[in-house]
Amino acid sequence: MSIKAVNLTHVYGEGTAFEQYALKDVNFEIEDGQFIGLIGHTGSGKSTLIQHLNGLLKATRGELYYNGENIYAPGYDLKALRSKVGLVFQYPEHQLFEVDVFSDVCFGPKNQGLPKEEVEERAKEALSLVGLDESFYRQSPFELSGGQKRRVAIAGVLAMHPEVLILDEPTAGLDPKGRDEILGEIETLHREKGMTIVLVSHSMEDIARYADRLIVMNHGEKVFDDTPRNVFRHYKELEAIGLAAPQVTYVVQALRKEGIPIDDGLITVEEARDAILRMVGMENGKDGKTGC
Ligand SMILES: Nc1ncnc2c1ncn2[C@@H]1O[C@H](COP(=O)(O)OP(=O)(O)OP(=O)(O)O)[C@@H](O)[C@H]1O
Ligand SMILES: [Mg+2]
Repeated sequence: MSIKAVNLTHVYGEGTAFEQYALKDVNFEIEDGQFIGLIGHTGSGKSTLIQHLNGLLKATRGELYYNGENIYAPGYDLKALRSKVGLVFQYPEHQLFEVDVFSDVCFGPKNQGLPKEEVEERAKEALSLVGLDESFYRQSPFELSGGQKRRVAIAGVLAMHPEVLILDEPTAGLDPKGRDEILGEIETLHREKGMTIVLVSHSMEDIARYADRLIVMNHGEKVFDDTPRNVFRHYKELEAIGLAAPQVTYVVQALRKEGIPIDDGLITVEEARDAILRMVGMENGKDGKTGC
């Protein structure tokens, strides 16, 4: 099973004075169970791209295949696709509209035509997956904190039992605690339920920590598509397109410049810490886990 984009091109307002190429000949294949980070500076086409993956936007040119089927073929069931490929929008809290949290999460499965008991069962399961217990069920979504609203929106998509979960900057504007909690929950869904994840993010640190593949967009084109480790080795090219590698990458490069033989493929603080401790340990003749 996979999502395959072939020469995906999207032009907003084609043929008008406002014509804008948002995607240009983008090609990739997303395999089942991957955790993909999607990064690029503002306006690079990330949101446009992910809205093609569930058929919400139609490519101006190019094709998109879901599990081998062309989603632009006549008669293709786009409604079914939208429940298999769940999309959590940028600032999803703007789309909460029901009177209470529980009704909001029920909306998607209810719309799928499922019986009431199953709708409610799914809503309960989805809310528990995002860490919201029964005390939230009858609260108005508008009374919740930013992080809680995001969780309700994510639960609303999870209740449709998607195979692929796409999140457009789910942590934007949240405090570090809210951010870590939401990313931790997404990671659990990936690890325990094998869900395919596409995470749009501005944070290289988050991508380094969670994603096993990183796609970088620039002006509507895919410019890198590799493991985060390999992409971050190109930190100078990333800088040239207004991005940067995780901060720890720069620390590692600075140490290497000083002649310290540390691996240049370290991308998280934990990895760098362990490597430094090992070196200190070697110097002291210890196992690297003790000493100061
Ligand atoms: N509805 C629209 N009509 C016209 N142009 C649009 C529309 N939506 C996006 N664009 C343009 O398409 C390009 C890509 O926009 P998009 O929103 O996909 O970028 P993005 O990478 O998601 O940016 P951000 O990081 O700010 O969310 C931009 O130049 C943007 O101005
Ligand atoms: Mg966007």
